[in-house]
Amino acid sequence: MDPPKHAKLRNIVSKAFTPRMIEKMAPQIREMAENLLDSKKGKELDIVREFTSPLPIAVIATMLGIPLKDMGKFKTWSDAIVGGSDMLYSNLSGVIGEMTHYFQNLIIEKQNNPDGSLVYSVINAEVDGEKLTMMESLGFFVLLLVAGNETTTNLISNALLTFSENPGTYDAIAGDHNLIPRAMEEVLRYRSPVQSIYRVAKVDTELGGVPVKKGSIMVPWIGSANRDESVFDNAGRFIIDRKENRHIAFGEGIHYCLGAPLARLEAKVAMEYMAENFQSYEILGNRKMIPQNSTIVYGMKEMWIRLN
Ligand code: HEM
Repeated sequence: MDPPKHAKLRNIVSKAFTPRMIEKMAPQIREMAENLLDSKKGKELDIVREFTSPLPIAVIATMLGIPLKDMGKFKTWSDAIVGGSDMLYSNLSGVIGEMTHYFQNLIIEKQNNPDGSLVYSVINAEVDGEKLTMMESLGFFVLLLVAGNETTTNLISNALLTFSENPGTYDAIAGDHNLIPRAMEEVLRYRSPVQSIYRVAKVDTELGGVPVKKGSIMVPWIGSANRDESVFDNAGRFIIDRKENRHIAFGEGIHYCLGAPLARLEAKVAMEYMAENFQSYEILGNRKMIPQNSTIVYGMKEMWIRLN
């Protein structure tokens, strides 16, 4: 979406995503991590299915104000929309229909019982003196699902993969949790969960000496920019405490990722929980690691590990 409507819509939810607001969720996120990984010591599991995928879904569902009893339903829709491993629906319009029906009821419930949830903020927000239509509100919820879940899942899974390839990294963060935020920034750069995005040229222009015609579809490669040798020393190496890490994994400019503080917090809490509760982990070589089938999002659909 372009200005001016973009800023008006973004403002509706931006307050809920400031680092200050997000930080308050840390204890809840930790509890969710605990619920998912409690009693998994010594077990072999698909970490995507059991941990890195359900965690961000539970977080965003909580922010939206989805009651606990409906979490399972919400996860099924989310998986169907973003094409996750539990694809139960073959047609997207069926899912959207079901979600619409669900949110219609939820909206009525929230109107009668106001709370601080995102659903409540969105349905009561006004743009140019008018409330959003049902489809616009639903679009918002779907956007948050699509933009925020698989990406954060991939950040955490990519971190586990990258740490396992770099012996000593996991022990180092277990020994000093202060290393986690910087290590995660380096994962964002080194294995960017969003590798590419789309843009359409609004006017005839020129980029890097190449003429671009109005209406052309462009694909800026975030993953490539994040390994630019003219910006990063040893760009092809994972350096746990890289200084000056000016990656663009969350984009740039007016569309800069709304959920960046949330994704960072989720990844930090997830890693802290793991490092505190598991001495080590091992990616199982005898199980196939299945990558996401996409040129946009980058990560694993399935990754089996043993937690020790
Ligand atoms: C590691 C996790 C994440 C990564 C790598 C990521 C990456 C990105 C990128 C690259 C963009 C820019 C897209 C563009 O310029 O076209 C973006 C935008 C966006 N992201 Fe994220 N994201 C992550 C997590 C989240 C989360 C957790 C949420 C919300 C719950 C979220 C919500 C959004 C939204 C709403 C936009 C659009 C912003 C706008 O157009 O103004 N993202 N994200």
